[in-house]
Amino acid sequence: AAFGPASRPLAGKHVLVTAGPTREPIDPVRFLSNHSSGKQGYAIAGALAALGARVTLVSGPTALAPPPGVDRVDVETALEMEAACNAALPCDVAVCVAAVADWRVAAAGQKLKKQDGEMPSLTLIENPDILAGLAQRQTGRPQLVIGFAAETHEVLDYAVAKRARKGCDWIVANDVTGEAMGGARNQVHLVTATGVESWPELPKADVAARLALRIAENLTGSPN
Ligand code: CTP
Ligand code: CA
Repeated sequence: AAFGPASRPLAGKHVLVTAGPTREPIDPVRFLSNHSSGKQGYAIAGALAALGARVTLVSGPTALAPPPGVDRVDVETALEMEAACNAALPCDVAVCVAAVADWRVAAAGQKLKKQDGEMPSLTLIENPDILAGLAQRQTGRPQLVIGFAAETHEVLDYAVAKRARKGCDWIVANDVTGEAMGGARNQVHLVTATGVESWPELPKADVAARLALRIAENLTGSPN
């Protein structure tokens, strides 16, 4: 059985994973971004590939190499990430792990210059919500759409509300006050239609393996 179909329960399935930060230009030499390392998203992409899935990893700038068997598409901005996700469809499952910048800058075409002590002000424009867009597609909606929720307080309340607002099937919620962002371990809660399951603090690779198995179970209807 170790080498039977049960070891590759996601064979024939296409999974889209977003990971990493996005980078929003302020001018040709500066950008807005965040502390996402991409580690959790890359680990999930690798775990899904290890279960036999074809994985498209749409990634913002990270220091990581793509896991074996994963097709990576490199992007910088949220708008590029959205376009790359749409270009990767159709897929059976979407896992949005990226820390997409909520706003982009009404960017200047030329480098901003200091001017006699005057501060430049940045005009921010809200970025599209890639997860909500995938979850609310009228046609070709992935069978299973999963989001992450990084919160610093009231983690579960916000995660439950976020799941409803975005229309996704599952939310993986984590508290990012500690070491989660950029760190090696993660303590998460899986929020589904049927309730909340709190997992122990685990290495990110173990969170990924566990989530990949749950995804396989959900798609095939049997525990793997
Ligand atoms: N997300 C996305 N596109 C965005 C913003 C977020 O796809 N423009 C996805 C993230 O990849 C994650 C989920 O939405 O899976 C939740 O992201 P989060 O930042 O926690 O939620 P927001 O809706 O942006 O709310 P806020 O940052 O205000 O908590
Ligand atoms: Ca956000």
